[in-house]
Amino acid sequence: MLARDIAGSMPTGPASPMSRYLAARTAFFDRVVVRWLDRGGAQVVVVGAGYDGRALRYAKPGVSWYEVDHPATQHDKLARLARLGVATPSVCFVAADFTTDDPGSGLGKAGHDADAPTLFICEGVAVYLEEAVLETLLASLRSVAGAGSQLAISVSVNARSAQTTARRSAFRSAVAAAGEPARSTLTAGTATTLFAIAGWGLSPPAAGHGGQRESNAGFLVLEPA
Ligand SMILES: C[S@@+](CC[C@H](N)C(=O)[O-])C[C@H]1O[C@@H](n2cnc3c(N)ncnc32)[C@H](O)[C@@H]1O
Repeated sequence: MLARDIAGSMPTGPASPMSRYLAARTAFFDRVVVRWLDRGGAQVVVVGAGYDGRALRYAKPGVSWYEVDHPATQHDKLARLARLGVATPSVCFVAADFTTDDPGSGLGKAGHDADAPTLFICEGVAVYLEEAVLETLLASLRSVAGAGSQLAISVSVNARSAQTTARRSAFRSAVAAAGEPARSTLTAGTATTLFAIAGWGLSPPAAGHGGQRESNAGFLVLEPA
């Protein structure tokens, strides 16, 4: 219902590179969440949640969900959920502007347990933040990440072909026109350094979160370093 409410009137055309990218990204984050829940993980934080419906789709007894988002986006989502009559009993909503607020402290006030393992998912958000803001955000999440936590994140990595560069440029124009300009594109090297400064390291491939294909697409699972 929420997806229809926010995007139901958008035209759907033949599968474009962007829709294929989004399908792969959705499948990656779905897999990470399902694995976490199957292993008994009891806390999930959706960072920059937007209209993500996973806290509703994957609601499970004993699991606490937290959605942290910009106050304006979260206000609109809550208004839509209320209008649609969708109850969210297992979701805590934490409003935070990552350019000024500390999401870790907001999570603590909302009841998040910093000593217990948490899965943080940060999908489609990094590109909209300046590198310095992203670093502060990830450091704040690290400060409330108990042992055994994971951070699944998608980042915009630098393009390898002229075709991808052209598509990126079209994407940047489209999101800027929609009022949410892209603010960062990382190289594999700058991303790894930024993660390390913020206290996160790449999860070993043995953890089974996906191999080369996903990291090439900029979908990563990190662990507290
Ligand atoms: C493209 S949406 C992605 C939403 C969702 N994670 C998904 O993949 O569908 C980007 C999200 O980043 C959030 N965001 C962008 N800048 C932000 C900021 N400065 N502080 C907090 N959230 C921000 C927006 O509110 C929005 O929810």
